[in-house]
Amino acid sequence: MATLRLGDTAPDFTAESSVGKLNLYDYLGDGWGIFFSHPADFTPVCTTELGTAAKFKSEFDKRNVKMLALSVDGAASHKEWIKDIEETQHSQVNFPIIADEDHKVSDLYDMIHPKANDTLTVRSVFIIGPDRKIKLILTYPASTGRNFFELLRVIDSLQLTAYHKVATPANWNEGEDVVVSPAIPTEEARNIFTKGVKEIKPYLRMTPDPRS
Ligand code: BEZ
Repeated sequence: MATLRLGDTAPDFTAESSVGKLNLYDYLGDGWGIFFSHPADFTPVCTTELGTAAKFKSEFDKRNVKMLALSVDGAASHKEWIKDIEETQHSQVNFPIIADEDHKVSDLYDMIHPKANDTLTVRSVFIIGPDRKIKLILTYPASTGRNFFELLRVIDSLQLTAYHKVATPANWNEGEDVVVSPAIPTEEARNIFTKGVKEIKPYLRMTPDPRS
């Protein structure tokens, strides 16, 4: 499988998981998805990540984003690990974890980086749109746990810019001013964005978040 790039169709698969056999496309339905891999079960950083992810589920639900994790151990191991996660992180693991002992799914998604470790998956994140296209790919080293606030922030930006001709600036958070798409001339932008357009430079025009 060639390396996946933004805009590629997320490869479908059917695999065992902590909640039984799971087909990716059936699981996602017509919503968004976040698919994230973990190096292995019973590892400390992953334990904190899964506990944290579970606490964020209501935020992903609000945005119509289905959560799916993967680790290269089997379903029985995942079930034992989930007990530890729930005990130590004080949260219910309320989304499936793919069991990928044969590396079928991690190979499909290029989640194993042999120069880092040739058997464990890295901390990959894929955000998948309702059109099944990959909207974001992130790769973190095994030593760094992910920031789930940042993942929600990217989803907010993706969901805003999918429907409005805007982009989001550095460190943007929902409700803050956004950038008018460079493809729109300023006069046209003033008609589209009725809350106002501030032209700082001809190529840098800001407008209030059109949804707020
Ligand atoms: C962890 O999740 O704690 C971890 C996994 C693999 C290597 C280093 C840390």
